[in-house]
Amino acid sequence: MDGTLVESHVVVATLILSIVGLFWHWSTKKPSKDFPPGPRPLPLVGNLLDFAFKPPHMVFLELRNKYGDIFSVKIGQRWTVILNSLHATREALVKQPVNFAGRPDLYSFKLLSGDGKSIALSDYSIDWANNRKMIHASLRNLVTGDHTKFEALILEFTPQVASALDLTKGKPFDPKQLICHLVYSILGKICFGESFAFDDPMLLEKMAAGQEFLELVGNGLPIDFFPSLAWIPFKRAEKLRNLCELNFLDIHRAIDCHRKTFVPGKPRDFIDQMLDAQLAAKQNGEDTNISDEVIATGIADIHGGGTDTTIVTLYWSLALMVQFPQVQDKIAQLADEVIGRERLPTLADREKLPYIVAAVHEVLRYSTKLPMSVPHSTTQDCKLDGYFIPKGTMVMTNLWAIHRDGEHWEQPYSFRPEHFLDETGTVRKHPEGFVPFSTGRRVCIGESMVKAELFLLFTWLFQHFKFSKVPGTEDQSYIEHGQILVANEVNTYKLIAKRRF
Ligand code: HEM
Repeated sequence: MDGTLVESHVVVATLILSIVGLFWHWSTKKPSKDFPPGPRPLPLVGNLLDFAFKPPHMVFLELRNKYGDIFSVKIGQRWTVILNSLHATREALVKQPVNFAGRPDLYSFKLLSGDGKSIALSDYSIDWANNRKMIHASLRNLVTGDHTKFEALILEFTPQVASALDLTKGKPFDPKQLICHLVYSILGKICFGESFAFDDPMLLEKMAAGQEFLELVGNGLPIDFFPSLAWIPFKRAEKLRNLCELNFLDIHRAIDCHRKTFVPGKPRDFIDQMLDAQLAAKQNGEDTNISDEVIATGIADIHGGGTDTTIVTLYWSLALMVQFPQVQDKIAQLADEVIGRERLPTLADREKLPYIVAAVHEVLRYSTKLPMSVPHSTTQDCKLDGYFIPKGTMVMTNLWAIHRDGEHWEQPYSFRPEHFLDETGTVRKHPEGFVPFSTGRRVCIGESMVKAELFLLFTWLFQHFKFSKVPGTEDQSYIEHGQILVANEVNTYKLIAKRRF
């Protein structure tokens, strides 16, 4: 080879190496000088490969030992700050509520939020804050307004549950489908005033659509973390777009139907409640934006936010009670003593049944259905414990790490309702480190409703039925974590249900 050829090869190789080096540097460079530390990302995929064998919340808990409570990772093309302790979460979400109240501009969030109009997945704005206040107040009214009405609404479907359980005739079955029927029926009633039989094709259709939603967005869309691929017509993204359009069309139809028969001041369900709010705002000449779009996305938020979370928590509840029969027996015995066998549980019973309230809270802690909460983003440049986080950075909270932190829980990896009781047997008020619903400006708006709903259903179930492991599986753990990425699900299982009386 002559000298010129060697020289040109060296030049080309140097050029290629420089381009690769520059690309490597550019694609792994942190967004600011004082950005939180973290593991080195790879070009293109960032730190995604770290989650190949373990779900993110568990990987982040391990990384905490090396990088502290606040660190950063690159998820695909998105730099993300991880908050890994109660202290870090409070410093951000509670002490700087507006700075950390944004939502990232994920493609799936845009579709699911009706193009930025919903409260759950839209970015922070004054309109967003007003709409959230209105919807949150309506939900609170539903629970605290008329207790008897709320109790009847939640327990309306229990005769259907009892019949379905009786039909199993003591044979092993997976309760997931039955729980889905129950939760979809309750939310259908709350949002649309619908009362379906469990085998009604309309209900089954809604459940199938819900399942399809989950399969599409359960672990996010690739475009969410690789925005530069948005030009590729991904089938999953297209499917999600169609599903969202159909869902909003259905909700708008329901709003139009409700408007025809709605009597102001006498709400039958959540749509009526928001039509009332819309009318009152118009009559008072208020400068609000309660459009039909806002009502529709509010309904989608409540239905979407309330279904899978409640289904998975109830599925965990049964698994935990079967795994720990002594807790189940104690709950049944207390229900017998306080409620007896003639009447249904009421919310007033909570005061006399602190152990059951504590067991429900412990299910929420132990299961932590949304271990990494819902992603936030910074609404402006901000400082956090000496780090600089630029506006628009994605921020995730590791609720699971807080629920497994020995600083707040005596035995964080054990299931113990006693975690929520003080030495006098009273339910601990606001226990440090109990954050299944997150905290700050974006805290879950369904918290009080779902706590009340879980208490009623949980108490009713164990008051009437005894659930146990399938004979021959006594040594098997029923509380293994299932396929998890962004949701903490328990592995599927079968159990046996028998009437207690
Ligand atoms: C066990 C049941 C539930 C759990 C564990 C749960 C948990 C959560 C969590 C962790 C968040 C994210 C908060 C954040 O971004 O910081 C959230 C948000 C939300 N949840 Fe829930 N949730 C549950 C039930 C419900 C129910 C029943 C509803 C409606 C009736 C609901 C409606 C919402 C809405 C609308 C948001 C968005 C709030 C916002 O962005 O401002 N959730 N939930």
